[in-house]
This record gives sequence, C-alpha cells and structure tokens, in this order.
Amino acid sequence: PSGNVADRLGRPLHDLRISITDRCNFRCVYCMPKDVFDKNHVYLPHTDLLSFEEITRIARLFVAHGVEKIRLTGGEPLLRKNIEKLVAMLAALRTPSGQPLDLTLTTNGSLLARKAQALKDAGLNRVTVSLDSLDDATFKRMNDVDFSVADVLHGIDAAHAAGLGPIKINMVVKAGMNEQEIVPMARHFQGTPYILRFIEYMDVGASNGWNLQEVIPSAEVVRRIAAHMPLLPIDPNYTGETAARWRYADGSGEIGLISSVTQAFCADCSRARLSTEGKLYTCLFASSGHDLRSLLRGGRSDAEISSAVAQLWRGRADRYSQLRTSQTDLTGATLDHGKKKVEMSYIGG
Ligand code: GTP
Ligand code: 5AD
Ligand code: SF4
Ligand code: SF4
Repeated sequence: PSGNVADRLGRPLHDLRISITDRCNFRCVYCMPKDVFDKNHVYLPHTDLLSFEEITRIARLFVAHGVEKIRLTGGEPLLRKNIEKLVAMLAALRTPSGQPLDLTLTTNGSLLARKAQALKDAGLNRVTVSLDSLDDATFKRMNDVDFSVADVLHGIDAAHAAGLGPIKINMVVKAGMNEQEIVPMARHFQGTPYILRFIEYMDVGASNGWNLQEVIPSAEVVRRIAAHMPLLPIDPNYTGETAARWRYADGSGEIGLISSVTQAFCADCSRARLSTEGKLYTCLFASSGHDLRSLLRGGRSDAEISSAVAQLWRGRADRYSQLRTSQTDLTGATLDHGKKKVEMSYIGG
C-alpha cells in the first residue's frame, strides 16, 4: 500500500501540515476574532487530541506515500505541552530513499525566545513566524491581546541564534488595518537573513467576516514596495510553492507574495492537512475532513490505514481558491453550499 500517490488532478502528495492544538494565546482579528473565540468557545477535550505516538504513526505512513515536508501548526503549536518530544519523534523519520524530512513549524513567536534552543536540539530545521506590523499600536490592534512587537522580534532573533533557519516572516495584509506597514516591514527585513512574505487576507473559516474590499492584491503590494526599492521576479524554489518570489534589484535579499485570492495556486497544491483530532483535510477551505483517528484507535493495521490514506488522496479534486476566482462576485458564497468552512485556528492554515 505504500508508494507515491497522485490525486484526480495529477497532484502528488508532498507536504503534510499537522495541527497540534486548536488553542492560541492571540486573537488575531482575521483568524480568531474575540467575539467568536470568547470564554464560551469550546475547544477540543484532551482525549480527542492525537497523542504524539498517533501523530508519528500517521506521519510515517504519509512519508511512505511521498511526503517530504512536515509543518506543525495550531492554533499556536508552541502551546502544546512537550512539543519538543514530538519534534524529536518526527525528526527520526526518513523518506523511502533514506533522507530526513524538512521539518518546520508556523508560530506567532510569543513563546519562541523560550523554546527555540530546545526545538533545535530536538531536530526542528526551521520556523516561520507571523508578524503583521512593526508598529506596536497596529500590531496590538491585530493580535487583540496586547502582545508587543519587540517580544516577537526577540523570539525571531532567538530562533536565528539557535540555527532555526532560513526563517520566514508572514505578514497578513488587511486593508485599512496594516497596509501602511507594507513598506516599513519590507525596509526592516531587507538585507537581513529573514524572508518576509506578504499574505493576501483570505476567506478562511466562517468567523472573520471576510470581505474582498479588505484584500490588497499582491500586485499592489509589489507596486508599493518597488516604488522605493526596485524588485525583480525570481523562479520558485519548488513546484507548488505558496509564495511567488521577488528579489531586490540591488541584491539585498528576497520577499514572497502569497496570493491565494488574486492568483490561486491550486494547480500544484500538494498539501494534506491533519487536524488536532486526527481528521484529514484535502483543502484549507474544506467544510469537513476524513476521520483517521477512528482507524488508529480501532485497531487497524498500518497497511489498512496506509491504503485508506492513498485512496483519499487519489479521490481528491479540491481547488477552492481557483473556483472562487472564477466566480464573478468573488465572495465564494456560492461555493460554500451553505456549509461552514473549517476554521483557520482549527486546521492551521
Ligand atoms: P514554506 O514551506 O516555508 O514556503 O511555507 P508555507 O507558505 O507553505 O506555509 P505557511 O504556514 O507559512 O503559510 C503561509 C500562508 O499561506 C498562510 O496564510 C497559509 O494559510 C497559506 N497557505 C499555505 N498553504 C496553503 C494552501 O494550500 N492554500 C491556500 N489557499 N493557502 C495556503
Ligand atoms: N488570511 C490569510 N492568512 C491568514 N493567517 C491566519 N488567518 C489568515 C487569513 N484569514 C496566517 C497566519 C499565519 C499563517 C499560518 O496563516 O498569520 O502566518
Ligand atoms: Fe493565533 Fe495564528 Fe490565528 Fe493569530 S493567526 S489567532 S496567532 S493561530
Ligand atoms: Fe490547495 Fe485548497 Fe489552497 Fe487550492 S485552496 S491551494 S487546493 S488548499
């Protein structure tokens, strides 16, 4: 049952994103708005979470099907207790040709200064850190928990010092919120070892009240930066990369543009997502997943679970962003069929 698999659109299975907690200590307005994720919000009970052994077992089966990159996500992944133990277990996995995986995680950086060295020692390769602004007032308005910019920058530096690189910085651009920070962020990270990526605000989940008017198209972001620092396009690092790459004409580094709204990248999407409770999602915008936990806990053999995974991937035809673009109103409303899309904080982006 092992071996590489391709989906109905010919896309291989290459990346596995594993959400390890649905909790977060931030309340970013575009992800976990406070009015929805308040005291009454019900998170997954501990018994529902996949254990580290269960996660590693599933990951091993995915690796046998061609996965070469694993990214831990959340919520905020560093909130999961003993995460470095899980990192060590995943770092021990090898591809069929004997190679270690590209093992990384996406974090809000709040606990990074404290955990960077332990994560590195456990075998993590690199991290991606979210940072939406360099201005404290704007950043606090976006994370909505009064967390300051300096603490995230401190975490980034600690990760760099620990050798967790190359480090990428993710900035979600929301019109009327942090768009004035586009050029200052570019300036700040120009000439540093950090790769800044601008992300179009996406219509993920059902809580953020997404509106096309709040999206700044990547082409506009490039235009605004290039007015000060000339940019040249460069080739992707690999097929299916989320970011389009640009480099500063003067050789002072590169930036990335993630344009899920205006330039969908579904054609080469090779990402599978595993939720904290062990459901497999074949698209970020899916409204439901496939329960793998019941197979794990139901005494099924590796071979049985492995062939179930292969069958799910072979049946995959998702290309939500592409379909949304082809809708004239771009709201995506007609794509939802009245079903609620899964939340970003649940599936990890
Ligand atoms: P690298 O491997 O370092 O290039 O990371 P990545 O861009 O794959 O992952 P990251 O977690 O940094 O995600 C960056 C942004 O891209 C986030 O806003 C994600 O939600 C978004 N993203 C990642 N994968 C997909 C995808 O398959 N579809 C869509 N629409 N967005 C995605
Ligand atoms: N649109 C775009 N990016 C988002 N992220 C969270 N919510 C959204 C959204 N609605 C980003 C986070 C993090 C990454 C995993 O996804 O800021 O960097
Ligand atoms: Fe937390 Fe990341 Fe969502 Fe912000 S975007 S609320 S840091 S999970
Ligand atoms: Fe992949 Fe779905 Fe994102 Fe398209 S919208 S790139 S299919 S996860």
